[in-house]
Formats: sequence, C-alpha cells, structure tokens
Amino acid sequence: MTDSESRVAIYPGSFDPLTNGHVDIIERGSRIFDSIIVAILANVEKTPLFSEKERIEILRDVFKDRANVKVETFNGLLVDYAKQKEAHVIVRGLRAVSDFEYEFQMALMNRHLEPTLETVFMMPAEQYTYISSRLIKEVFTLGGEISGLVPPIVEKKLREKQKARKK
Ligand code: PNS
Repeated sequence: MTDSESRVAIYPGSFDPLTNGHVDIIERGSRIFDSIIVAILANVEKTPLFSEKERIEILRDVFKDRANVKVETFNGLLVDYAKQKEAHVIVRGLRAVSDFEYEFQMALMNRHLEPTLETVFMMPAEQYTYISSRLIKEVFTLGGEISGLVPPIVEKKLREKQKARKK
C-alpha cells in the first residue's frame, strides 16, 4: 500500500487532560486505521489546566509503544489541518445521547466545509462512558479519587500541580 492509499485518521480534541476514555478510543482507532493522528487543539481556552507542551508530553508518553499513533497540535480549522495531513477521516468518541447534538453539528459543519472528509464515531468501553476531562478536573480539585479514570501519568502530573499550588 502506498502512502496515498493508507488510511489516516485524525482524532482531534482538547485533551485537558487525557482520560482513559480518550485512550480507549485511540486504541480502537489505531486497530482500524493504518495510522491515527491525535490532534491536540493548541488554543483550547484561555487558561487550560495543562499547557500545550504538557498535553503533548503526556500523550506521547502514553502512546510511545504504538508506532501508528502520532501526536501533534493544531490551530485553526480542523478541516484545513486534515487536508494538510492528507487524512480523510475524523474520529470522535460518542459516550451518550447527550454528546450527540454537539457532535452531529460539528460533523455536519465539517462536512459542509469539506465534503470529502468523513466523521466516524466510536463508542468507548462502557466503564468510561461517564468520564469527561471537565469532571476529572472538578473531582480532582475537590479531593475525589480519579485513579483508574485517567492514565497514571495524568494523575501524577495533577498531583504535582496541586503540590506546586500549595507552596
Ligand atoms: O475535546 P473537544 O473540546 O470536544 O474537541 C473539540 C474540537 C477540538 C474537535 C473542536 O473544537 C475543533 O475541531 N476545533 C477546531 C476549530 C474548528 O475547526 N471549528 C469548527 C468545528 S465544526
């Protein structure tokens, strides 16, 4: 198979922070597509918990043994980035019906902008369906247990941040 025939998918997101739900989707995607580019939105919000550099470091560490998972950052329109990467598929995870409306709008807007780009939805394992980056941040900040919900490196970095704040 030549490079132009290989099926490249993009899995875009904020990943602030990466959760085990994201990891599950990336692993599933990496088994279906020849390669999957995890595309971290660089300017996620004014004050992300993890900087762009930290989010790249975390993702690259978690997927260091998966040769067909690449981690990059992007700015601007996702469709432009996909074109630049010669990817024809966007992967998004669908956890529950509540995700559907936002995902449906994004998928159709992206299709309007670039009709050749297809969005493929994947479901994470059931035990991850209630996890979101927002809830992880909230629960951790309020002293709740998050182990098993995020990769160990995320938990470690969250604890480091917490320690640094207390100083
Ligand atoms: O993890 P998130 O926050 O749900 O990811 C959202 C993301 C990064 C996929 C979306 O905000 C995005 O694609 N942003 C890039 C700008 C863009 O293309 N906007 C139009 C999308 S229809």
